[in-house]
Amino acid sequence: MSIDQTLIDEAKVARENAAAPFSRFKVGAALRTTGGRVFRGCNVENASYGLTVCAERVALLSAIAAGERKFDAIAVVTQSDTPAPPCGPCRQLMWEYCGDIDVALANLGGQRLDYKLSTLFPHPFNFSLED
Ligand code: THU
Repeated sequence: MSIDQTLIDEAKVARENAAAPFSRFKVGAALRTTGGRVFRGCNVENASYGLTVCAERVALLSAIAAGERKFDAIAVVTQSDTPAPPCGPCRQLMWEYCGDIDVALANLGGQRLDYKLSTLFPHPFNFSLED
């Protein structure tokens, strides 16, 4: 199933909870399971900067903790002039747990870019997960 505006809107709502006092760059993510559930995530920063967790990872880890393992789409919303692609570590994690999902990147101005994850992350490190 492709990504409709609803998933973008979920990511926008998620973004409102971002804790980004250091960068002031708020990110929202909405990850959809193949069963249609949506898990929201926002970036959470910390005074020890390296402990910051990206919105995409918050959404994914929350979904996994809820027992979900099959995903088909993620929407990411930022305030940037052009929609911002996920960072490298998030791409790796999404690849391992979500496979080649649809990725929609949007900004608050209504611009949107659509990708398959394999386009954003063409040469992944593959490791077979037993669990
Ligand atoms: N950030 C995300 O939430 N997702 C990304 O894919 C890239 C960056 C966050 C981390 C940090 O809180 C802020 O954006 C600025 O880097």
